[in-house]
Amino acid sequence: MPALRIAALASGRGSNLAALLDACADGRIDGKFVLLASDKAKCAALTVAAEAGVPTLALRPGDYPDRRSFDHALFDALAASNADLLVLAGYMRIIDPSVLMPWAGRAVNVHPSLLPLYRGLHTHAQALAAGDAEHGASVHFVTAELDGGPVLAQARISIGPGDTEATLATRLLVHEHRLLPAVVGAIAAGRIAWNEGNPTFDGRAIDTPLTLCSDGSLGAAT
Ligand code: GAR
Repeated sequence: MPALRIAALASGRGSNLAALLDACADGRIDGKFVLLASDKAKCAALTVAAEAGVPTLALRPGDYPDRRSFDHALFDALAASNADLLVLAGYMRIIDPSVLMPWAGRAVNVHPSLLPLYRGLHTHAQALAAGDAEHGASVHFVTAELDGGPVLAQARISIGPGDTEATLATRLLVHEHRLLPAVVGAIAAGRIAWNEGNPTFDGRAIDTPLTLCSDGSLGAAT
């Protein structure tokens, strides 16, 4: 199988992008980045990509009359990259469903909550406010519904009495950096498949999100 052609969208710091690039470099992902696009004129993710030799594109929403036309310009560029997979790696804009349709089963997102809990923003604050004992991150296939596509894998952390939004975000990020490459690696290896919206792992339905094993691989939840 030829290496998976990967494009990513990012809006900020780019630490998940860096984790993916590391995993491509050391062979955990049989993949090659073909484009990093951003809705910010300047952000750390653009620098991370450029330093790794990945082509970058920055489009400014303010230069377009509405969200739909911005998304069409962005997704035209993504289509032109001939990417096999699109990764939303800290992309903080809502995407018009019309441009997502051609990417069904070919786009994943990392989200800092145990979906279906806490879609959208301020997930750490929401977990604290709810008095949850656990928090986590999810990687899911992207559909037209915001943070709503089938969840593939999750990483969990426990919430302690001293935790704040900041400590949760910091502790969870370490897990995101293992979870997202593990899922993208499994897609590149053909182990995770979309299967018309009923994703499978090694041919078995993912009824419950996969979990990260201590060696960084994915396994069925126990
Ligand atoms: C990550 O925590 C990611 O889960 C979150 O933004 C952060 C990006 O960090 N994404 C979302 O909230 C998307 N709804 P990064 O730029 O360092 O990868």
